[in-house]
Amino acid sequence: MAKVILLNGSPHVHGCTATALDEMIRTFEAEGVETELIQVGNQAIRGCVACGSCAKTGKCVFDDLVNEVAKKFEEADGLVVGSPVYYASPNGTILSFMDRLFYSTSFSKQMKVGAAVVSCRRGGNTASFDVLNKYFTISGMPVASSTYWNQVHGFTAEDVKKDLEGLQTMRNLAKNMSFMMKCFAEAKKADIIPQLERGAFTSFPDGK
Ligand SMILES: Cc1cc2nc3c(=O)[nH]c(=O)nc-3n(C[C@H](O)[C@H](O)[C@H](O)COP(=O)(O)O)c2cc1C
Repeated sequence: MAKVILLNGSPHVHGCTATALDEMIRTFEAEGVETELIQVGNQAIRGCVACGSCAKTGKCVFDDLVNEVAKKFEEADGLVVGSPVYYASPNGTILSFMDRLFYSTSFSKQMKVGAAVVSCRRGGNTASFDVLNKYFTISGMPVASSTYWNQVHGFTAEDVKKDLEGLQTMRNLAKNMSFMMKCFAEAKKADIIPQLERGAFTSFPDGK
């Protein structure tokens, strides 16, 4: 059975972002995909300090939720990251979390499916959506899409429940993502995942 991890970057456990993620969870369950929702936004998650320790140990020097989720992410077929919009960006906690999760882990993320979900009252959703998708597209992770950009609007969970198009977008996103995870699982079994080149690292050592 495919498994997807959903991260709620909001400090509100039952807020707008949670309402969007809950809609996805219901669809994932109907599609036979296992889910695990992890609350990130109400934790004290500090930012990356670029110490480089993870390159030697394979885990973050700050032994917190990041390292716990890293193990689950390695086993999972997909990752959904949800965030409220703060000043037209994802909120600070989820950015710190994602920087450290992606930088500290060296396992292959190729063909794990990614999706970003954002919630704002008024504006800044698409800018935030772009930021979150970049963690996936630097990691060989195909990004699932829907029938609109993956966003809901609201200040409270009750507002989001009235955003019928937003919720429809969440259901369609989860359907597409379920399909992709199941297809990629078959492709992994058949051993037809593309072999990628590694090694080139442009650093202009000659100063030119
Ligand atoms: C610090 C802060 C900054 C915010 N900045 C924006 C913003 O730039 N645009 C916007 O539409 N809403 C903004 N909001 C409102 C939230 O993004 C919005 O209410 C969101 O849906 C809340 O999601 P949640 O219930 O999952 O936390 C901001 C809220 C906070 C606390």
